[in-house]
Amino acid sequence: MENHKAAAAAVAYRLLNQTKHKSNKILHQRRLIPNSTQLNPSSSTSGFTQASVPLNQFVASYRWDLRKSSLIHTHHRKFGSVASTIVERNPNFSTINHDDLIYFDKILGAKKVIQDPEELQTANTDWMHKYKGSSKLMLQPENTTELSQILDYCNSRRLAVVPQGGNTGLVGGSVPVFDEIIINTRRMNSVISFDQVSGVLVCEAGCILENLISFLDKKGFIMPLDLGAKGSCQIGGNISTNAGGLRLVRYGSLHGTVLGLEVVLANGSVIDMLGTLRKDNTGYDLKHLFIGSEGSLGIITKVSILTPPKLSSVNIAFLACEDYISCQKLLFQAKRRLGEILSAFEFLDSQAMNLVLHHLDGVRNPLPSSIYNFYVLIETTGSNESNDKATLEAFLLHAMENGLVSDGALAQDFSQASSFWHIREGIPEALQKAGAVYKYDLSLPVEKMYDLVEEMRTRLGAAANVVGYGHLGDGNLHLNVSARQYDDAILAQIEPFVYEWTSQHRGSISAEHGLGLMKAEKIYYSKSSETVQLMASVKKLLDPNGILNPYKVIPSSLVS
Ligand code: FAD
Ligand code: MLT
Ligand code: ZN
Repeated sequence: MENHKAAAAAVAYRLLNQTKHKSNKILHQRRLIPNSTQLNPSSSTSGFTQASVPLNQFVASYRWDLRKSSLIHTHHRKFGSVASTIVERNPNFSTINHDDLIYFDKILGAKKVIQDPEELQTANTDWMHKYKGSSKLMLQPENTTELSQILDYCNSRRLAVVPQGGNTGLVGGSVPVFDEIIINTRRMNSVISFDQVSGVLVCEAGCILENLISFLDKKGFIMPLDLGAKGSCQIGGNISTNAGGLRLVRYGSLHGTVLGLEVVLANGSVIDMLGTLRKDNTGYDLKHLFIGSEGSLGIITKVSILTPPKLSSVNIAFLACEDYISCQKLLFQAKRRLGEILSAFEFLDSQAMNLVLHHLDGVRNPLPSSIYNFYVLIETTGSNESNDKATLEAFLLHAMENGLVSDGALAQDFSQASSFWHIREGIPEALQKAGAVYKYDLSLPVEKMYDLVEEMRTRLGAAANVVGYGHLGDGNLHLNVSARQYDDAILAQIEPFVYEWTSQHRGSISAEHGLGLMKAEKIYYSKSSETVQLMASVKKLLDPNGILNPYKVIPSSLVS
């Protein structure tokens, strides 16, 4: 007991002596993620297998010139190590012909009609290099009118499309499965208005999240969401996936902060729901249908979002815990003792820490004196610097005295804070570099969450490295299985076990990444058949020909 107290006092001393903040900067600009194409030169294309077309033929087909032929190579694809699902191309969809290209050239101009094989290869491939489509055409509309004309035409011709923002999605939703036309929103990237009093930002869907963060920073505001992919992802993509990210514990989900949307439906009609009001109870609030619908119901073109003011005092602690129960107790205490200033509560296990230290350049362990089982990153954001600091220090002291924290460090300046965040945000990239990744994004009761990681470790033994991290403050586990290469035997150990386990514990098989292609057929693990049926009816109502992001979100049998 005495020893324990002495150790706690020593750690407390270190923490309290590191609290001199040299900078009050808000810490959301900590890391720039380059364009998704440069982010991860993953070599793991082996996760993709194709039933009817050999890979060399598939790749060669990128060079095929649409203007000369209308041959389609891909009719039937198997995502064996990715989704254990066989997907059939919907025969009701047309294929692009010469007249289509002439039409798109006419309404958009040639520079927004992309057929360049290299650009298409990038746009056909997801961030993980796990899902690859074979689209021969990407359109880049510049405004709502152009997008509306595209969809009107595609609908009448039954040409399937995939909406694409920054292409940082992690469930295969943002790339074509076959030859769907890619509609990329990157040219729709203007801020339309910002109201300094209400904090309401109105912008186009293609604005990159990090650009919005910078724009608001200058006005004294922040975005209510932040995620590691901010340098590439777009606000339209964020809303379409209902992205959670690192600050949800404080600012809530996009269902709360998005005030309005402009959306183009499959038939080209423009639905103006771009309100800027906090309160509007005039009937059904239909914008919610599009938040998290992953491009399956309409394409978001404009967004109105409530942004919180930027507060002057930000503190970040990087802590070590011996066991998972301590992480839980720490969260319980943080919610009570830090209350309204708590702005992030993230955790990672030692496997995640090792991956980051091993695979990312320039990363340093802030707590090098020992190897710990768990690490927790806590951020506070408030308006009273001395009070906030005192509150955090009192909380940490209490946590140490109660044996919840074994070691810890408080960021003393912006650069230290960035380096703490870099560890947490760098995990997906480190996993990519380590080899093949089986990625699961689960909502679970916090007390049960880590049992799944341990059970998975027991199941897989030495065959793979099982890694757990995530947004503990939101009950969101990122369970990742890292292996040298994709292997059906490993997949068979993971699925359906992971989904059954989650369902048995009344969790969700997608906390924040969405269903995409990866989990469209798994939806019943989290939704009742009546609910899925209703979703399919809504889809049929809004997109009767099923041209918007086919094969994703809803089981194909219900909508094709
Ligand atoms: P895309 O990947 O291009 O598209 C995602 C989906 O939305 C697709 O189904 C697409 O068809 C649809 N879509 C895109 N734009 C539109 C539009 N305008 N209208 C209609 N549909 C559209 N996610 C989290 O939730 N939390 C995280 O913390 C997080 N961290 C990440 C960290 C890294 C390093 C990476 C690579 C990804 C992370 N993600 C995270 C996943 C991803 O970044 C998010 O899902 C993000 O919101 C996707 O935005 P995007 O613009 O890249 O969309
Ligand atoms: C994260 O929280 O880091 C993201 O959701 C990405 C991931 O799960 O790998
Ligand atoms: Zn996440």
